[in-house]
Amino acid sequence: MDDKRPLSILDFSDAQPHPTWARARAETPVRRYDASAISPEPSFVVFRHEDAERVLRDSETFSSSINNAVIGRYMGETMLGMDGKEHRQYRNLVAHAFRASVLERWDDALVRPTIARLLDGIAPAGRADLMREVVLKYPVQVICGIVGVPLQDQEQFARWSEDVAQGALNPPRGIASSQAMRSYLADIIEARRREPAGDLISELLAAEIDGQRLTEEKIYGFLLLLLPAGAETTFRALGNALVALLTRPAVMAQVVADRSLIPAVVEEALRWDTSITLVSRVATRDTEIAGCPIPAGSAINVITSSACRDEARYEAADTFRLDRPPQPHLAFGSGPHQCLGLHLARLEMRVALNAIFDRLPDLRLDPAAPAPEIKGFAFRGPEALHVLFDPS
Ligand code: HEM
Repeated sequence: MDDKRPLSILDFSDAQPHPTWARARAETPVRRYDASAISPEPSFVVFRHEDAERVLRDSETFSSSINNAVIGRYMGETMLGMDGKEHRQYRNLVAHAFRASVLERWDDALVRPTIARLLDGIAPAGRADLMREVVLKYPVQVICGIVGVPLQDQEQFARWSEDVAQGALNPPRGIASSQAMRSYLADIIEARRREPAGDLISELLAAEIDGQRLTEEKIYGFLLLLLPAGAETTFRALGNALVALLTRPAVMAQVVADRSLIPAVVEEALRWDTSITLVSRVATRDTEIAGCPIPAGSAINVITSSACRDEARYEAADTFRLDRPPQPHLAFGSGPHQCLGLHLARLEMRVALNAIFDRLPDLRLDPAAPAPEIKGFAFRGPEALHVLFDPS
């Protein structure tokens, strides 16, 4: 399975990687690539659904600790980099704050008012860049609301979060912003300790299972992870769903007329072109994937976005179709680290699509603007979405 010529990291910088991934699934579904500039250990990429799912579910052979080496510098120790019992205990404690009854409360109190406020800002104009003016701001504001960051501080908070998420590109800025976020959060934590407010931080401070509590360090780790994990991913996924619909006016008209199709739009958009395309693991022992030998210590990049287009699992996998039989996909990962925010992400996408269709009648692409394009390798989404609609 391993090709003679190792891929270089540059082979992964293509803004339109789907054709490359399709070739890889057919010819070299597990490939070694040259990451010697970053690490002396061998590195592999996994492209097919079956192999991707196996790696993500077998957390004993494929450890998540590699994630601490990459993002740990800026975020401290996060759950994304934990394994085994430590991860299970930690996840149980924080998952408590993401249970269904809490989601219901956020739906009415936060998610709907947030998208309504953003749409009110553009509705009278009859035209907008939907990405910049609405979609980009929406999940950040929801998470800031969940964390308890007041509206007037949210832009600053989002800027810090972006610096942290892109820490590898500018390490001094990533570290400085991570420290700034930490001291900002310390004040909120202190206030909630004195007086619980029924919000996420109050829940995290109170969470206790089998006598275990979250240390302050772990609460920071969780809060610092939430914005990049929940906002960078969700706004792009919503953008991708809107591109899929706006570039297919007949499908869009069908969905606007029949809102019961919205959950199918959300699932198909996540499968067809998801926002975060890969997750990383490290092999804890000598093993193999689809016959390709993997030495202990190897880095494994699982291209979940390629797995979601695997022809062996999805008929006409490149086509955006709302009539597919329901079939789970890997956009949220799989196994013990499967996305903790998946219900929130789906809720945000459903609520936003409904609100956009209600508030922006006759929504269509602006023919005078360049056609929107979903771009990027590790994160995928449209840069802009210029639309016209009836002003109201
Ligand atoms: C469409 C939007 C989203 C996508 C595509 C997405 C994707 C993912 C994926 C693929 C993972 C697994 C990472 C791994 O296995 O290493 C993950 C984990 C995670 N996600 Fe999401 N996510 C989204 C939205 C959210 C939201 C809204 C939140 C919370 C507000 C969130 C919080 C998390 C957390 C905390 C983890 C770590 C779980 C663990 O390590 O056990 N995500 N996400």
